[in-house]
Amino acid sequence: MYQAYFNNKFTNSLVYYVSLLLLLLISPFLFIWELITTLRSCFHPIENMSGKVVLITGASSGLGELMAYEYAKRGACLAIVAIKEPDSRLEKVAERARELGSPDVLFIFADVSKVDECRMFVDDTIKRFGRLDHLVCNAGIANLYSVNIDITKFAPVMNICHVPCKKHNHSKQLLSWVIYEHMQDINFWGSLYTTHFAMPHVMRSSGKIVVNASCAGILNPPKGGFYNTSKAALISFYESLRFEVSPRVTIVILTLGFIETNIITAKYLGKGVGVALRKDFNSLLPTMGAEPCAIAIVDGVCKGATSITEPRFVKVLFLVKFLFPELHQFYLSKFYRSKSKKNKKG
Ligand SMILES: NC(=O)c1ccc[n+]([C@@H]2O[C@H](COP(=O)([O-])OP(=O)(O)OC[C@H]3O[C@@H](n4cnc5c(N)ncnc54)[C@H](OP(=O)(O)O)[C@@H]3O)[C@@H](O)[C@H]2O)c1
Repeated sequence: MYQAYFNNKFTNSLVYYVSLLLLLLISPFLFIWELITTLRSCFHPIENMSGKVVLITGASSGLGELMAYEYAKRGACLAIVAIKEPDSRLEKVAERARELGSPDVLFIFADVSKVDECRMFVDDTIKRFGRLDHLVCNAGIANLYSVNIDITKFAPVMNICHVPCKKHNHSKQLLSWVIYEHMQDINFWGSLYTTHFAMPHVMRSSGKIVVNASCAGILNPPKGGFYNTSKAALISFYESLRFEVSPRVTIVILTLGFIETNIITAKYLGKGVGVALRKDFNSLLPTMGAEPCAIAIVDGVCKGATSITEPRFVKVLFLVKFLFPELHQFYLSKFYRSKSKKNKKG
C-alpha cells in the first residue's frame, strides 16, 4: 500500500520530514513522560535484598567490586567471580563485603570466557546458597583499535593465545580477528554462558539479570572497534532475550558512559598498551566517579529499572545519534581530533 510513496523520491522525503515534524510535536509529551517516569522511580518500592543471593562476575575491581559493596550494605549474600591472577584482590573484596554487612560471601576464581568455568561457578553458588536472585554479568575488558597501531601490542591485554597465531603464521589482519574473537569470548560469550547456566535459578526466584554493556555499543566512539562491537552485541542479545523471559525475569541493561575505573585509567600502561586509552578516551567525554555510579546502578536495579544509563546526560547523546547522525559524527570526529592534537603536543 505504501510502496508507491516510498518508491517516489519526493514523497519518500516528504514522509520522512512529516514523521520528523510529528516527533517534534510529540516531544514535549515525551519529555513530560520521561519526567513522570523519573519522579515515579523515586517513590518506587525498593526490593529488599536482605538474605537474597547475588552473583557478580568481574568483581575484583572497578564497578563489579563496588556493586558487591552496595549489595553487601543491603544485606545480600554474594558470590563474586574474577579471573585468577597472582595479584587478584578478590579475596580482599570478599572480606570488605562481609564487613559491610553481607551475611555470607563466596569468592570463586574463574574465567568467564570458558564455558565449563561458568557452569562451575553457577553450580558452586547454588550449592552454597540454594538460590540465585540477581545475576550481574559485569566482567569485561577493553582495548582500543586503530589501523595505525601494531595490533600485536594488544596481546597482553587481551590474553590471546599466541600459539595458534604463531603456528598458523597469521598476518596482522588475521590476528586482529583473533583478538576480536577473544574480546567476544569475555565481553559477549562470558555474559551469555553465565546467563545460560543461571537462567533456571533466576527464573525460580523471579529474579533479575543485569548486563553491563556500554554506551560505546550505541555511540561507537573512535578506536573502540572491537569493544563497541562486543557491547552492541550484548545490547542486541539481551533486548531480544527480554521478550522471552519477562515478566518472570527482569533484564537490566547498563549503558554506562565513561566511569573512573581501571578500564579508562590505563591499567595496562606498563604492558605497552593503553597509552591511547588515557590520552584519548579519558578526556573525550566527562567521566563519572565509580562509586556514585555503582550506587546508582544497584539502586536502579532494586527499584525495578530495565535500563540504566549513567551519567544521565549520555541518554541525550543516544537521541542525538539516532535523530541527527551527522551531528553525532561531527561531534565525535571534531572533538576527538582536537583532543588527539592536544595530547600529541603535550
Ligand atoms: N569504566 C567504564 O568507563 C565503563 C563504561 C561502560 C561499561 N563498562 C563495563 O563495566 C564492566 C566492568 O569494568 P570496570 O570499568 O569496572 O573495569 P575493571 O576494573 O577493569 O573491571 C573488570 C573486571 O572484570 C574482570 N575480568 C576480566 N576478564 C575476566 C575474565 N575472563 N573472567 C572473569 N573476570 C574477568 C577483571 O578482573 P581482573 O582485574 O582480575 O582482570 C575485573 O574484575 C566491563 O564490562 C566494562 O566493559 C565500563
